[in-house]
Amino acid sequence: MCGIIGYVGKRDAYPILIKGLHRLEYRGYDSAGVALINEAGKLNVFKAKGKVAELETFATDKDTTGHIGIAHTRWATHGEPNTANAHPHYSASERLAIIHNGIIENYSVLKAGLMQEGYSFKSDTDTEVLVQLIEYTQVDRHVDLRTAVQLALQQVIGAYAIVVLDQEHPDTLIAARKGSPLVVGIGDDEYFLASDATPIVEYTDKVIYIEDEEVVTISNDREVEIVTIGNVQKPPEIQRLEMSLSQLEKGGYPHFMLKEIFEQPRTLTDSMRGRINLRQDNISLSGFIDNRERFINAKRIIITACGTSWHAGLIAMYAIEEFARIPVEVEYSSEFRYRRPVIDKDDVVIAISQSGETADTLAAIQLAKERGAFIFAICNVVGASIPRVSHSGCYTHAGPEIGVASTKAFTAQVVALTMLALCIGKEKGTLSPDKYFAIVRELGQIPDKIERVLGQNKRIAEFAKMFMYAQSFIYLGRGYNFPVALEGALKLKEISYIHAEGYPAAEMKHGPIALISREMPVVVVAPQCGTYEKVVSNIQEIKARKGRVIAIVTEGDDLISKIADFVIEVPRTEECLTPLLTVIPLQLIAYHIAVVKDCDVDQPRNLAKSVTVE
Ligand code: M6R
Repeated sequence: MCGIIGYVGKRDAYPILIKGLHRLEYRGYDSAGVALINEAGKLNVFKAKGKVAELETFATDKDTTGHIGIAHTRWATHGEPNTANAHPHYSASERLAIIHNGIIENYSVLKAGLMQEGYSFKSDTDTEVLVQLIEYTQVDRHVDLRTAVQLALQQVIGAYAIVVLDQEHPDTLIAARKGSPLVVGIGDDEYFLASDATPIVEYTDKVIYIEDEEVVTISNDREVEIVTIGNVQKPPEIQRLEMSLSQLEKGGYPHFMLKEIFEQPRTLTDSMRGRINLRQDNISLSGFIDNRERFINAKRIIITACGTSWHAGLIAMYAIEEFARIPVEVEYSSEFRYRRPVIDKDDVVIAISQSGETADTLAAIQLAKERGAFIFAICNVVGASIPRVSHSGCYTHAGPEIGVASTKAFTAQVVALTMLALCIGKEKGTLSPDKYFAIVRELGQIPDKIERVLGQNKRIAEFAKMFMYAQSFIYLGRGYNFPVALEGALKLKEISYIHAEGYPAAEMKHGPIALISREMPVVVVAPQCGTYEKVVSNIQEIKARKGRVIAIVTEGDDLISKIADFVIEVPRTEECLTPLLTVIPLQLIAYHIAVVKDCDVDQPRNLAKSVTVE
């Protein structure tokens, strides 16, 4: 979703802003723009539809000088993706320019008021309304820019991260946030502002995370100053970034997604580091230890998440119910927040999010918090909004995930949730020590086993070519592997634009079986555990109708190998850990099909990495 970058300092701002926009590309966008104040004190704005490269081409012969500037990648909400709607937006007098991530929900009311005052608009965006409102407030109330920003934001309903540049103050940036992320980077005599730390990390590791309804003023000759929109002073809290530049590079891989798929043995080791003691077969999870009573006395656990994180939540439901015997409900955050859910103060709510910024999940947390529930976050991005508003949690430590299609973040979530389920079960006494130790030991083997699955990459790439013309796929799985089927289908849809549906294998008879034909490949996730025999019967039913089956099976499975058209083997493991292995071939299938179809794997159309608006 929209990406924001701002710079003020002694260096040329333009190259820093453009590099920052490239780093933010992974968030997803459809137009880009930049505003700079040159040495003569003129505020210039350049914008282009499409990729950042198109903005660079457009700006080649323009005046891109200046030591202060703001830049933006826009993911369209109000108004189609075109140059007029791209950010930055000028105010009426062209004295101010603004960039914005979020949605001003009451923009039409505010716009009507401004039109009555004689204002006109050049774009269809809510953002232009905000910059006009700020300028109107400045002029009408005779106040300085920061006060005008505070007063304007008091009238706004919705979410925003904004940065405002003022031609009259060519050394100062004013920024604010509510619901959309914003981080300040502190360098030597220079400052950065961004939606996340990725454009900042190469310049500094000192950051300040701006909180909701805070307005920050940064200027190269002054300390950072933070006040709320109600004008209460806030001391800036400087934190250290746990991110390195190399994590943001492709490292020799053609795409971030492939790099991230191949990183999984290491990311899972990182997720378990310091938490699993393999010599003692023990898990020590500080978020659990600190809140042991809440978990073991929980009457119910509600898991809330979106997309891939929701799939990880479904796997956790199987594990928590099996090991801890606590009822679990898994909710789409977007539905949960609006359906007046029954939430009790004894409930534990687990919110799962890679980015930690997903607007619906944040709102679901807010609602559950208001009802007195205990909120535990499983999050990848350190310092993101979701872990900060939660009572406790567990970072997944998968490292920055740049590919829009989530891969390593998913397996790290499953590992974190499995560790949590094991801790609850052990402490409640609902999980036998033998079983607990066996699973803990096996968790330690998972990175090596994933390595073995990755060894089949070339073979999977070859066979994926055969399916590039398929119009539709079905993915089937049962038990712990039903969510894997959903995840495999989502991966294919996202990056190859082929329609795909995930189903519990036994549900096939209740509808989808009507679709079976030679033209529609069926991917069956069928490791030898749980309801294996029943899944074999499902495969027989598909073959009897001339369907083509790609099966993910346990190593040495002679039965399915004889009936399926294509088989990918994964090592044997504990049932609850099978998703960590079976999902790997599905990630690779989606990746290779998208590559042969020449799709934009890392930045698929219409998608955003971090969905910060509803
Ligand atoms: O950052 P989050 O985990 O909260 O994001 C949730 C979804 O937007 C995300 O998982 C999305 O479905 C991915 N693109 C899936 O690959």
